[in-house]
Amino acid sequence: MSKRIDVSDLNIYYGDFLAVEGVSMAIEPRSVTAFIGPSGCGKSTFLRSLNRMHEVIPGARVEGKVVMDGQDLYGSDVDPVDVRRTVGMVFQRPNPFPTMSIAENVLAGARLNSKRMRKSEADDLVESSLQGANLWNEVKDRLDRPGAGLSGGQQQRLCIARAIAVKPDVLLMDEPCSALDPISTLAIEDLIQKLKSDYTIVIVTHNMQQASRVSDATAFFNIAGTGKPGKLIEMADTATIFSNPTQKATEDYVSGRFG
Ligand SMILES: Nc1ncnc2c1ncn2[C@@H]1O[C@H](COP(=O)(O)OP(=O)(O)OP(=O)(O)O)[C@@H](O)[C@H]1O
Ligand SMILES: [Mg+2]
Repeated sequence: MSKRIDVSDLNIYYGDFLAVEGVSMAIEPRSVTAFIGPSGCGKSTFLRSLNRMHEVIPGARVEGKVVMDGQDLYGSDVDPVDVRRTVGMVFQRPNPFPTMSIAENVLAGARLNSKRMRKSEADDLVESSLQGANLWNEVKDRLDRPGAGLSGGQQQRLCIARAIAVKPDVLLMDEPCSALDPISTLAIEDLIQKLKSDYTIVIVTHNMQQASRVSDATAFFNIAGTGKPGKLIEMADTATIFSNPTQKATEDYVSGRFG
């Protein structure tokens, strides 16, 4: 559980378009790493390269290395489906399966992976995953009702429960709170704090307060202009990025002077 990721010299393409260029970084286990930067600089693209979701787009490819606890995720012997099981993902818009029950939503990913589960096993996994996502108390009396009947913040926590039910080592979250109200946002931030003792967490956010509240390390990406590749400008512990960055562009961005 909770693995270290080392990225070296990663270039990420959509066909001929180089969207992200030359990224090297280390992502520490049992910590939260935030990706920040202006729209279009490649945060989501880079995030998706960490669990081999990028290549599902026709023509999309990467060059370089992503190594997780010593294993090259792009090695020829590696099955991308295994990578996606180990490195889970939560998206911007909560996307529960609307007609499936709350319990079946939690089990959806796990059922794809495992042989048949006994009912008691499935019940335990539903409870522990919903507990882990801080949602159990709110839904324990309506586990057989549709997932679509929950509030937006509850649906996002349901998606987190679905992701952790697969027992990943790493959780990638792409702007997980951008569709949520402030109270639900704080609930997700509390949850992220709790989850980091068990997982490596990477979160993309446009909310500077959120990055400074939840993350241990922050990576600032930028883009020189339309059609140019996004690049990692600087990465350091979050306090340093927000109070004493080395690059002027970082300082301008975190102080709200651009982007
Ligand atoms: N499926 C795709 N096909 C072709 N180009 C794409 C695709 N997805 C993203 N891009 C391009 O890659 C670049 C980086 O996009 P990306 O979505 O990673 O940026 P981002 O930093 O996540 O932006 P935002 O903050 O708006 O979410 C952009 O130029 C974008 O137009
Ligand atoms: Mg994005």
